[in-house]
Amino acid sequence: MIAASLSTQEVTTKFKSVVVTHRGGLDAVKIIETDLRPPAAGEVRIKVLASPVVQDDIAVRVGNRPFLQKPPFVPGYSVLGEVDALGADVSGVSVGDRVAALTNFGGHAETIYWDAAQVVQVPPTLDPAQAVVLILNYLVAYQIMNRVVQVRPGDKALIIGASGGVGTAFLDLGRLAGLTMFGLASAGKHPVIADYGAMPIDYRTQDFAKVLQEIEPQGLDFVFNGMGEEYFKRGLAVLKRGGVLVHYGGPESLSRFFLLVGKLILYNVLPNGKAIKGYGTHRGDVRQYKDDWNTLFGLLAQGRIDPLVTARFPILDATQAYALLESGRVAGNLVLMSPELFQGKSRSETE
Ligand SMILES: NC(=O)c1ccc[n+]([C@@H]2O[C@H](COP(=O)([O-])OP(=O)(O)OC[C@H]3O[C@@H](n4cnc5c(N)ncnc54)[C@H](OP(=O)(O)O)[C@@H]3O)[C@@H](O)[C@H]2O)c1
Repeated sequence: MIAASLSTQEVTTKFKSVVVTHRGGLDAVKIIETDLRPPAAGEVRIKVLASPVVQDDIAVRVGNRPFLQKPPFVPGYSVLGEVDALGADVSGVSVGDRVAALTNFGGHAETIYWDAAQVVQVPPTLDPAQAVVLILNYLVAYQIMNRVVQVRPGDKALIIGASGGVGTAFLDLGRLAGLTMFGLASAGKHPVIADYGAMPIDYRTQDFAKVLQEIEPQGLDFVFNGMGEEYFKRGLAVLKRGGVLVHYGGPESLSRFFLLVGKLILYNVLPNGKAIKGYGTHRGDVRQYKDDWNTLFGLLAQGRIDPLVTARFPILDATQAYALLESGRVAGNLVLMSPELFQGKSRSETE
């Protein structure tokens, strides 16, 4: 009896986090334990139910991004969880609410403290793993398709990096929007691309520009590029006049960032009737994203979108998920789950 109440006390006074201790490989990933504290004024304390593993979680550990955060830090670009405590001066959020946030860092933990004004309410009926994928990957695809450009039924689009987390979000939302889609992916992932009704092209063995110029000689309306600026020239070549290439791939260093900005400017002054635009989510106030998240939650609730969650892992097994994403074998999304939600789920839902 005494042991049972002691273990309950332990569970409620401490939480564990996945921490990157230094720049490097998977050996830099450790689990640490921290005392729970009451949330500060304006904060909510969230018991994390789900947090995806995305390319940028890996990139910030190995050092493949400009403006890097110094270790130690907890990775985790977005979270979904249940509010279990409120700080002073918090309104509009209650204990027990299911909420999500775009955190950039901190999501790969059992608990996170976050500014109450920056969280969005999530309908509790949604699958947490699918709903949390909407917070970054679907937001990127949705905002590019509806805010950076305005896609219309029948538009033709090429998705570069089509099999990944953001790529499959483009395919899912593009199918809903009635687009004709082409997706660059390695051959093993072509069935995933075809399942969305898109035509897969193997960028490793085929010259995609040649393939598309034969199939679509009039040119495409849009190219959505999640890879590097090495795709700009051929991406522009497959656009029709008036077409737009939107680039959202994260630059690998500060020098690549400046090169990217330079190329964006240069290609836009070329008199070819085509445009290149850049897109990035930011780390500041994300209240403006709430309308789009609510739209996406609505689409998920109605079964009109179906985010591809390829595998789920317990939060504290994050290293296995990082290794799988780094292997390049994954299509879709990997999601870390609280132990309670993970129980009963198969590690790989595609097996
Ligand atoms: N701007 C923003 O706010 C924002 C937000 C989220 C993500 N991003 C960026 O978006 C990019 C994709 O992120 P993600 O999370 O979707 O990554 P991901 O899930 O790892 O998917 C990337 C996909 O690209 C494919 N790929 C790799 N090299 C390629 C190449 N040379 N040409 C074409 N495809 C290639 C890989 O599959 P196969 O090669 O096997 O086909 C992989 O499935 C990253 O650069 C990330 O930084 C930006």
